[in-house]
Amino acid sequence: MKNLIDILDITTEEIDALIDTANDIIENPGKYNEKCRHKKLATLFFEPSTRTRLSFEAAMLDLGGSVLGFSESNSSSASKGESVSDTVRTVGCYADIIAMRHPKEGAPLAASFSAGVPVINAGDGGHNHPTQTLTDLLTIKRECGRLSDIKIGFCGDLKFGRTVHSLIMALTRYENVEIVLISPEELCIPQYLKDILRSQNIKFTETRTMESVMSELDILYMTRVQRERFFNEADYIRLRDTYILTPEKLEDAKKTLCIMHPLPRVNEISTEVDVDPRACYFKQVKNGKFIRMALILKLLEVK
Ligand code: NCD
Repeated sequence: MKNLIDILDITTEEIDALIDTANDIIENPGKYNEKCRHKKLATLFFEPSTRTRLSFEAAMLDLGGSVLGFSESNSSSASKGESVSDTVRTVGCYADIIAMRHPKEGAPLAASFSAGVPVINAGDGGHNHPTQTLTDLLTIKRECGRLSDIKIGFCGDLKFGRTVHSLIMALTRYENVEIVLISPEELCIPQYLKDILRSQNIKFTETRTMESVMSELDILYMTRVQRERFFNEADYIRLRDTYILTPEKLEDAKKTLCIMHPLPRVNEISTEVDVDPRACYFKQVKNGKFIRMALILKLLEVK
């Protein structure tokens, strides 16, 4: 694996190995703090980010390496009209590895052709977000003890939510996964994903309410409505509060339910839920750094 553009770029065995490394980093952080000495990570963020960019940077710093980059396209030569391909070719002269977020679907893939160093897709438009998926898989493994035999509900903006798309793709690899898609009709998952689920005989159902399925779920994956992907603000305002998870809605849920959210949260999980032991979204935040440390080690082939 030279780049990570799509979650299916890596095998199930490679995902297992990344999860094992992340767990070892959690147990023995001291073993890793010099592993990337003299290595540099560039974070090229053409779209806003808090967790993804900072977890990448913290990951490289905790490995003893350094970081450089930009957090908005205005501060790079993209604002002068430079192509993504020329930008990454330049950055590849200074850094050993690149994590890139871009509003255009496919931009990190295009970047990987000219960078000359490994490129990681840190989110491309409404398409994919493979490192959030690795974070999510690590969290599911740690919280549920397994990646197979799960019933997972995805709730919210399943049309534009790239973390949902990548996680669904990853879950097609595991046995006996059942998917419940909870969204308004206008925000349902793209047709190509439904086609993939059907062709692989993955059991999935679609529903409009979370209450109707809550008691059956092992995992509830909440998402925010992706305002920046809407053509029309009025549609966003109409749809943004369709689902709000409150303690009352969790009354019928399993005691072992794992409540996930890639964050940022807007209104879709009431802050009262945060004290529920089943709320795992801030554990996801922590896990995000450890799995990115594991990924950097793998892509840089550091032993
Ligand atoms: C997500 C993203 O950027 O797609 N956030 C993240 O990386 N953790 C989710 C979102 O923005 O809603």
